[in-house]
Amino acid sequence: MDPAVAVNASAPLESLDEWESDVLERYPEEGHQFRDYTADVRPTVREFYRLNHINQTHEFVKAKKAKYSSLEMGKKSVWEAMEFLNTLVDDSDPDTDATQIEHLMQTSEAIRADGHPRWFILTGLMHDLGKVLCLYGEPQWAVVGDTFATGCRYSDKVVFSEFFADNPDAKVAKYQTENGVYEPGCGLENVHLSYGHDEYLYHVVKDYLPEEALYMIRYHSFYPWHREGAYDHLASDKDRENLKWVLEFNKYDLYSKVDERPNVEKLRPFYEELIAEFFPDKIRW
Ligand SMILES: [Fe+2]
Ligand SMILES: [Fe+2]
Repeated sequence: MDPAVAVNASAPLESLDEWESDVLERYPEEGHQFRDYTADVRPTVREFYRLNHINQTHEFVKAKKAKYSSLEMGKKSVWEAMEFLNTLVDDSDPDTDATQIEHLMQTSEAIRADGHPRWFILTGLMHDLGKVLCLYGEPQWAVVGDTFATGCRYSDKVVFSEFFADNPDAKVAKYQTENGVYEPGCGLENVHLSYGHDEYLYHVVKDYLPEEALYMIRYHSFYPWHREGAYDHLASDKDRENLKWVLEFNKYDLYSKVDERPNVEKLRPFYEELIAEFFPDKIRW
């Protein structure tokens, strides 16, 4: 086994969230400056992206989709999945970081406070549940981080794009043209983005939530597209139309990382009712 993979596979999720919040929280007052990778980013963040960029090949992405998109990891209610995800947090030091459920509720509560519709609130509550991939044994670089298109030329709008030089796909000529294996304007649904929690959760919820919610879930980590305007040549008019929802969602995902911790037990009845409205039964994961 690749030693880099072995090290990474055993790393707990909280260290993954640590790098995320470290980058995000250094600029709590500056909104769009939340994610500044140009400053003195910690070595763990660089190393995370190095592993992500060298290991996420086009073939790797297709293999993970084949493995997980058929939803054969068991049935769980949404609340059960939230509690399952929460087991990844180290409770030996509960005051250091928000738990996974707390992050989800911070996001959904911020959306709710702004008077958005119920499906939007529920999307906030669920958006990171795909991180249960970590509990299936997937390494962090296959679960989180900004996503990028595989099977076509790497965009220099992707963070730490210099690491792509060591991805085996960099030497595959057909993957390094502007459109690669795709047709221009084919739509993002036909583009194989680097694998992670966005893509997995999309397949879990696609029959239950409205299209706007599905865009938020599937593309919230696709920063090169929604923040930088990269890959527009592969997007469809439908993608461009829905981009506004991804952007609308994203501000809550970022800002909620510095909010007060929510009272989970107090809020639980509201959310159980909201979940039941869209997911009356357990769903396949
Ligand atoms: Fe996420
Ligand atoms: Fe999130």
